[in-house]
Amino acid sequence: MNILLLGSGGREHALAWKLAQSPKIDRLFIAPGNAGTSHVGTNVPVAVTDFRAIKNVVLANRIDLVVAGPETPLVNGLYDFFKNDPSLQDIPVAGPSKQGARLEGSKSFAKAFMERRQIPTARYKSFTADALEDGYRFLESLPSPYVLKADGLAAGKGVLIIPKLEEARKELRAMLNGRFGAAGQTVVIEEFLDGVECSVFVATDGADYKLLPVAKDYKRIGEGNTGLNTGGMGAVSPVPFADGVFMQKVEERIIRPTIEGLKAENIDYKGFIFFGLISVKGEPLVIEYNCRLGDPETEAVIPRIQSDLVELLEGIVRGDLKTRPLEIDKRAVATLILASGGYPEAFETGKEIQGLDAPPWAATVVFHSGTTAREGKVLTGGGRVLAVSSYGSTLKEALTQSYKRAGTIHFEKMFFRTDIGFDLY
Ligand code: AMP
Ligand code: GLY
Repeated sequence: MNILLLGSGGREHALAWKLAQSPKIDRLFIAPGNAGTSHVGTNVPVAVTDFRAIKNVVLANRIDLVVAGPETPLVNGLYDFFKNDPSLQDIPVAGPSKQGARLEGSKSFAKAFMERRQIPTARYKSFTADALEDGYRFLESLPSPYVLKADGLAAGKGVLIIPKLEEARKELRAMLNGRFGAAGQTVVIEEFLDGVECSVFVATDGADYKLLPVAKDYKRIGEGNTGLNTGGMGAVSPVPFADGVFMQKVEERIIRPTIEGLKAENIDYKGFIFFGLISVKGEPLVIEYNCRLGDPETEAVIPRIQSDLVELLEGIVRGDLKTRPLEIDKRAVATLILASGGYPEAFETGKEIQGLDAPPWAATVVFHSGTTAREGKVLTGGGRVLAVSSYGSTLKEALTQSYKRAGTIHFEKMFFRTDIGFDLY
């Protein structure tokens, strides 16, 4: 079959790398892709939000299945666009409907959904500009620190955690006055939860689900989880604290009620659900839903899937997920992000990357996150440039391998955290 994968990051390179290994694949296209994806498929220069151009690619290349990597096309209604177009309606999209994608696209929608389905999450209220005074009163009723979230997509920058009440009041006012544009017209204020986080992904066909390996990402730029938030500086899988007991609670209290809730509310959802979870003294709560896989978690999770990813995607879109195999590698995988110096603030691009050819000792895959190919060279093209993923019989061994491999790669002002996984062993 022919597959079109949308996206251009490390997540998409990992997905493309895995899809290309399937005996079921005839042709794999990636829109727009990066220098890494061009080695495992054909890149097409089309933006993930340009539905008309996507339609042309799909029809011209007889695509049988479309897979959305990032959230934006899903939140913008890619699934519904295909369903409503007579020439596309028989071509399945692995990803939720626009309504389903609101689990990520609107934090107040997600919180209200969890409230209706009695899914454990932080206590909250949402506010619009006309209710600023009510917002102040709710802030005053909560202990410090205060968690403020812009309702809509804000490229990972829409969550503020503020220790001082006065500062929180000021931020609430600024957000409701347009600090995050339309995304912040509604603000969710919630109780701060103190615990450890992990990322749980499930594939669902709307009726059944399959649990993918659990991962943990490291969002802050600095050592010891300090400094600015990034898209993620590393990831590991498995996560020692997400053991059998914890995961049983997660399935009973969170995953099943979510899938059943979507069904009960007639929300069409055939794709991946990302549960951003926090364990507070061993009890799981939902921090956020995403309607896609995580990045860089995917670069640690996908290498641990031994069975055919095309089978899993077919199960998602055809509604027979239950019958499809999902085999997991027992080994650990650790992913290290090599970033451009300055990221997540201003950084330079266009630097030549050296050392991409795998040394013979490496049990490692180097996924491209932000790269471009020019005149036979691979250049940096983003803040997060490469994702180095290694296997190990333990997490520690996997991390050692990734750090060893990172030492053989070079580009000007390359930066990476040296403490990924530090809190887990
Ligand atoms: P989000 O964009 O929803 O993933 O939030 C970004 C990060 O903010 C999360 O990964 C958490 O580390 C943190 N966060 C969000 N909500 C809360 C909360 N209620 N309590 C503690 N930390 C939170
Ligand atoms: N790594 C977190 C995310 O993909 O949202």
